[in-house]
Amino acid sequence: MPPPQSTFTIYDFAASWFFPWRFMIASTTFLPGTLASAVLAGDWRTLLSWNRLQSAWFGRFWGWAGPLVRTSAEENVVPLLEGRVTGGRIVERSAAHARGVGGTVLEIGPGSGNWVSIFSDRYLSSTGSSTSTSGSLSNPNPDAAAAPGSRGKVTRVFGVEPNAGVHAELRAKIVAAGLEDVYEIVPVGIQDLAPSGRVLLESADCIVTVMCLCSIPDPQLNIKELYGYLKPGGRWFVYEHVKCSHSQSWVVGAYQGFMNLIWPPFIGGCELRRDTGKWIKEAGPWSDVDLTAPHGQPWFHVLPHVIGILTK
Ligand SMILES: C[S@@+](CC[C@H](N)C(=O)[O-])C[C@H]1O[C@@H](n2cnc3c(N)ncnc32)[C@H](O)[C@@H]1O
Repeated sequence: MPPPQSTFTIYDFAASWFFPWRFMIASTTFLPGTLASAVLAGDWRTLLSWNRLQSAWFGRFWGWAGPLVRTSAEENVVPLLEGRVTGGRIVERSAAHARGVGGTVLEIGPGSGNWVSIFSDRYLSSTGSSTSTSGSLSNPNPDAAAAPGSRGKVTRVFGVEPNAGVHAELRAKIVAAGLEDVYEIVPVGIQDLAPSGRVLLESADCIVTVMCLCSIPDPQLNIKELYGYLKPGGRWFVYEHVKCSHSQSWVVGAYQGFMNLIWPPFIGGCELRRDTGKWIKEAGPWSDVDLTAPHGQPWFHVLPHVIGILTK
């Protein structure tokens, strides 16, 4: 349970405002190694292309940062994928409205595979999440009948990840989760998903976007494209950092705007000032929209998030 607003201290404030600097400094320490390994490998294509170099640099950095980010984000992301988040609050498994991720899943920007283990059947047995009869492989749409509040059986995952620098680690997480026959890496950006022909429109029971829509090109256009991959009744699980809201002080917004001038090249092209929540809501007609700021998010947060589930 997040602390009530009144318990925030000056330390919390300072930590939040200093966080982008710490992250950028940490990222910078991975640049020399990235350059050195490209030089030693005679990889001139990486050395002469900013996009390639940035991807290789980010891949190395995320190998270190990813697990730390998982530690701080899992208190939100795990309940989200279990369908236990509503109105920005984490609720009990028994909540009648909640259904976790299941069926055919499109995971966008999985990176080094921070959340892959949650798609595994082993996760179902270790948490007691129930698929009941709906979990049987013979059921054509196991997600549709998943028990309320549980994570449904995941039958197929397409991990849309263009950065080849993280594929080895992502593959290792897939193997560790026993998902070799279920999880397929699609090595393109979402802007190239349609031409790749790897995923059909209206074929996904669930889309999962966790801290990745900050990094994609043409976000409004590509978010609309993604909407087209969801089946009617399909659900989009969102945990993304976004631009400061109007309820935050203009000073926080100004600071976020300043940081956004410096931040993107250090963090793989990530942008701080995207109105991702609004763009997802506007991507197409939804039968249910449950997307808002996490409960208890401090007003001074420089990387405020939105969390929730939208149903097509
Ligand atoms: C900050 S990382 C987050 C990774 C992971 N979702 C996590 O929570 O640890 C953002 C990811 O988005 C990926 N990404 C960047 N551009 C993309 C695009 N056009 N399509 C899909 N993924 C993209 C990056 O390669 C990176 O792995």
